[in-house]
Amino acid sequence: MSELKNVIITGANSGLGFETAKKIALNKEYRIILACRNLEKAESAKQQIFKETQNPNIEYIKLDTSSLKSIEEFVSEFEKTNDSLYGLINNAGISGMHQGKSVDGVEIVMATNYLGHWYLTNLLLKKYNIKKIFNITSDMHNPPQGLKWTNVEDIFYSENNDRTAYPYSKLSNIYFTNELQERLDQENKDTLVNSFNPGMMQTNFAGGPMPKSRIIFVKTMMPDRFGDLDKSSSALASLMLDDSLNVKAKYFDRSINYKESSPLSYEIKNQKELWDFTDKFVKEWKKK
Ligand SMILES: NC(=O)c1ccc[n+]([C@@H]2O[C@H](COP(=O)([O-])OP(=O)(O)OC[C@H]3O[C@@H](n4cnc5c(N)ncnc54)[C@H](OP(=O)(O)O)[C@@H]3O)[C@@H](O)[C@H]2O)c1
Repeated sequence: MSELKNVIITGANSGLGFETAKKIALNKEYRIILACRNLEKAESAKQQIFKETQNPNIEYIKLDTSSLKSIEEFVSEFEKTNDSLYGLINNAGISGMHQGKSVDGVEIVMATNYLGHWYLTNLLLKKYNIKKIFNITSDMHNPPQGLKWTNVEDIFYSENNDRTAYPYSKLSNIYFTNELQERLDQENKDTLVNSFNPGMMQTNFAGGPMPKSRIIFVKTMMPDRFGDLDKSSSALASLMLDDSLNVKAKYFDRSINYKESSPLSYEIKNQKELWDFTDKFVKEWKKK
């Protein structure tokens, strides 16, 4: 077993995941595993990270977070390295512009952003004593137009006609963070699980550059929602690299500082309902 600290980052070939991978890789005590669905993009990200950091310990393993089978395959591949796992950043995500169902029959945004990460994390935790987990959420867990929790079944199988799928997926990531931390605490594990909101950033997320008018609008009218890729990735990398971090079940907001998330995100009943439904869904899927 090597002395390196392994960190898995999902969706690490672009945007926040890529920039954070680079910043962590500057510290040669870390090995980064880029968990990406497109291996050509992963190879190019690996080369770029090596070029900029000279860290030789950058690897990639195929992972499609929208497919439970792909998650199992990823975990088996990672297990072959016979190594430990220090950190996990559940970052991969798609916007609410996407519609349709995952291969497992779940609304695609919810499947990609939440369900896949739930399963990935739980499978990895069975084998590894992970020190830090960050679930990437968004201030859109609390959209300007408001959000009501209906029931999980409707959310899992929705057609996303009203574009609520993205806020639900990001709210689910906060419920997931808080419930997982509670369960790990009960088992006396020392894993720290936190949510991280990067804010609205210029990445590939919207499928192209954001119009200038939108940037100016958000910056002036909703400064609390405006983010910066460099600042957010620096903060996320610092949190991963900080050995003295001892904060859990918090919502980090575009920085190394945390704040309250929305009142809805503290509804324990919804948090438990989501966990139980997800657990049951995965168990049913495994029987198929
Ligand atoms: N950008 C924003 O304004 C903003 C605001 C708040 C929160 N966030 C969150 O920040 C995170 C990172 O997004 P970003 O802004 O960096 O966007 P990005 O540049 O589009 O990066 C997203 C990454 O996720 C990957 N991905 C998407 N679906 C996947 C799947 N099924 N399996 C594996 N990987 C998948 C993408 O891979 P491909 O290259 O193959 O598509 C890409 O590597 C997301 O969770 C997003 O919700 C973003």
